[in-house]
Amino acid sequence: MIDLRSDTVTRPTPAMRRAMAEAEVGDDVLDGDPTVLALQERVAAMLGKERALFVPTGTMGNACGLWVHGRHGTEAYAHDDSHIVNWEIAGLAGLRGLQARMVRGAPVMTLATLQAAVRPPSKHAPKASVVCFENTHNGAGGMVTPIGDLRAMAEFARTTLKLPIHLDGARLWNAHVATGTPLSDFAACADTVMVSFSKGLGAPLGACITGTAAHMEEAFVARKRLGGGMRQSGIVAAGALHGLEHHLGRLHEDHANAKRLAAIVADGVADVQVVPPDTNIVMIDLPARIDAATATARAKELGVLISQWHATRVRVVTHLDASAADVEVAGRALVKALV
Ligand SMILES: Cc1ncc(COP(=O)(O)O)c(C=O)c1O
Repeated sequence: MIDLRSDTVTRPTPAMRRAMAEAEVGDDVLDGDPTVLALQERVAAMLGKERALFVPTGTMGNACGLWVHGRHGTEAYAHDDSHIVNWEIAGLAGLRGLQARMVRGAPVMTLATLQAAVRPPSKHAPKASVVCFENTHNGAGGMVTPIGDLRAMAEFARTTLKLPIHLDGARLWNAHVATGTPLSDFAACADTVMVSFSKGLGAPLGACITGTAAHMEEAFVARKRLGGGMRQSGIVAAGALHGLEHHLGRLHEDHANAKRLAAIVADGVADVQVVPPDTNIVMIDLPARIDAATATARAKELGVLISQWHATRVRVVTHLDASAADVEVAGRALVKALV
């Protein structure tokens, strides 16, 4: 089986496992784990933020960001196809008492769609407390919001709306590699930024939330309340450090593989719409003659695992454990599955 359901399916490489096994550890809840502290310092420096906090998942990192900025009984601006809105089981409402103010239209948030979502002032209307960005944007097929667009949205959020910004940067690494824009330039467009290690970087788990020291004090409270205080977590932080060291620089291979796969499918199946990939996610929109469940089942019979995104869309993701040769084979199988 070639598993292209997600970039989260990768297994730690032997070298990553060795780095994890040999990690120096401490009690991170009690007085700090040296490998976690090293990871936090490294990520904060890479993103140009004062501090970072290691959390087990990206979802918890987003929850911490919403905890820091959100105010109970207010709204969070978020794209209606964002991970925070669709895939975190309404954590923003359940954990922070926030209502999503959906930013609709265009595959990713733009200045125009954000502006269009702003409510006219009224004493009867909800107030907002935070704006959420996502880059790259999973639901839009790993689409990159270029730095110019992100800066324009950040300027509007900060100056006109006077709101703080949380960036879901689970795949910010991919945006950086695809565009050459420094991570810190992207990160400067938000007050807190979450980055994940368990996607393109190939670590088994883990994410960081970054921001000011004051933000991280509050994020620490949220992490602890959510049960995310971890002890000898240097074992997993070592996997993340290894990923930063050895796998960040190869993400362009995943991007090239995604482009190749998109081309094979677009050339081989006349009536599908393949969203041209900016990074490592290929979204395929299906014609009426085949639904996503059937397409996924047929692909599986031919040895390729893909995911149903919704009834008429499937998602295919390239990653560390899928070589260029695998992607050629998978692309040809998908053509057979979809014709
Ligand atoms: C854009 C985005 N944000 C957040 C997450 C959540 O990360 P995790 O699965 O580590 O909770 C994901 C996971 O796929 C994601 O794609």
